[in-house]
Amino acid sequence: MGWREHRYAPAPGTPLCRVDSIPIGECREKRYGDGEEALSLLLYRCPLGVQAYVNKCPHFSLPLNSRPETFFLLAREEIMCAWHCAIFRLQDGKCTAGPAKGLGLERVTVSTVDGQVILSAGDDCV
Ligand code: FES
Repeated sequence: MGWREHRYAPAPGTPLCRVDSIPIGECREKRYGDGEEALSLLLYRCPLGVQAYVNKCPHFSLPLNSRPETFFLLAREEIMCAWHCAIFRLQDGKCTAGPAKGLGLERVTVSTVDGQVILSAGDDCV
């Protein structure tokens, strides 16, 4: 099941945050729904814009963070899963080391309009 089929998935066109609310090289979490069934999105700001992923490690389908808004970032370019230390490149979501090597984070396509990060309708990268 892709994230768009998630019961709490926001509709295309939903504003997620302002680009400038995330410092370059940092991540923010955006949650939709309540409890363990909530959909958690990971937003990463790079110099060229914002990348978004489902905040779920492909190793055991757990969030990458064990505490709200607390992420283990490496050189502001990679993120380490809090549970078993898989490392993912934030530019493309690929796992480069650890128990999920070869797998990747599920991308969420977003675009930027007037400084606002918006959920895209399609699956193409913007
Ligand atoms: S759940 Fe992420 S490395 Fe195991």
